[in-house]
Amino acid sequence: MKFHLDEKIWLIASFGVIIGMMLFTGYQTFVLGMGPPSGMETIDPQKVDVTAPFDEPGVYEIGENEYEVVMTLQLFSFTPNNIEIPAGSTVHFTMTSKDVTHGIQVAGTNINAMVMPGHIQRITQKFDETGEYLVLCNEYCGTGHQFMATTITVK
Ligand code: CUA
Repeated sequence: MKFHLDEKIWLIASFGVIIGMMLFTGYQTFVLGMGPPSGMETIDPQKVDVTAPFDEPGVYEIGENEYEVVMTLQLFSFTPNNIEIPAGSTVHFTMTSKDVTHGIQVAGTNINAMVMPGHIQRITQKFDETGEYLVLCNEYCGTGHQFMATTITVK
């Protein structure tokens, strides 16, 4: 079989594009860590109440100006409710759902995530400005969805 020169050029160019894309995607996934979150932590949604740390939801001081909030989301509330932390705190949220898919959005911050039964969601956020931050569920979860809210008070 004989190829014309321009056919060879196009063949090489098109394979080059494919190889280049694969290398670029591989670089993004493995070097830059931009792959999909396949290593997500899981939990038995039926046993949240007896699985650490969710057996004791609450606000824990874990360092200087550093807190962990262990939180469960359920129809139609956040536990713990009405969180208070000092200004300048870095807060690590560790969350799961006890029933259906909920969302968490904290007004005035970048926190905006789904919280699904069977999965553990972790988000870290620093709270510099004092004030009351409204916490909302932003995934429709049933008839009480619009009442599913609480606050984080930073003082
Ligand atoms: Cu929970 Cu909407």
